[in-house]
Amino acid sequence: MGDATKPSADWPTFPATGPRKCIVIPDVAEQPAYPLDVFSIPVHYEGDLESVLIPSGLIQARSEKLAEDIFSDYDGAMIHILCCLKGGAQFFSDLIMYLKRCYSRRTPTVPFTFDFIRVSSYKGMTSSGDVQVHATGMDFEQLKGKHVLLVEDIVDTGRTMAALIPELHKHQPATVRVCSLLQKRVPNSANFVVDYLGFQVPNHFVVGYCLDYEEYFRDMDHICIINKACLPKYDALAQ
Ligand code: HPA
Ligand code: MG
Repeated sequence: MGDATKPSADWPTFPATGPRKCIVIPDVAEQPAYPLDVFSIPVHYEGDLESVLIPSGLIQARSEKLAEDIFSDYDGAMIHILCCLKGGAQFFSDLIMYLKRCYSRRTPTVPFTFDFIRVSSYKGMTSSGDVQVHATGMDFEQLKGKHVLLVEDIVDTGRTMAALIPELHKHQPATVRVCSLLQKRVPNSANFVVDYLGFQVPNHFVVGYCLDYEEYFRDMDHICIINKACLPKYDALAQ
């Protein structure tokens, strides 16, 4: 079994004032995102995207470093990873692939366990503000005493996390931390501090790498800015 005594209550080891460094993607007015025609884009989404904001290779490179940071911070303590479905599924899958590479074959303790939860507050492009947490076969009681690491695709206003984390604390985990691939610069942000952040992104609706609009675009490898003109088409498909 993992050593549940580490990290201790006086952990974390990184500055308490905020997250580690992340890659800050500038506003597109400052530095335009990549044109679509320099990447391979699925033909079924042609015309539905503005530009490529984060190419898949950069997502992979950044995820590898996040896994190394997590590995070194938890210092051998067993981590219970909670993947937030559905958007977090691809990032979770790649993150654990890199995390597994950090451990030697002779790691004497179990490095991590995982579960899946579903948190919903979005319909189309707007957050309803009404956050609902669904355990997908998971027993919340099993979080007791564990070092929970929530894995998310995107932190937008921060309200989902602000609602979810107190719910998790009710079940007395040892620690709760958040690893999110993206955090949006939004004007009405709850200033939620992400412990492990991949990229800070400008305030556009982004899709791809499992991030969706009405369940579409999850199958694209790059993270792209959606072309707003295509929204009625997907709204109609979602009816
Ligand atoms: N894209 C997809 N899902 C989201 C976003 C976004 O930009 N923000 C919050 N959920
Ligand atoms: Mg979504």
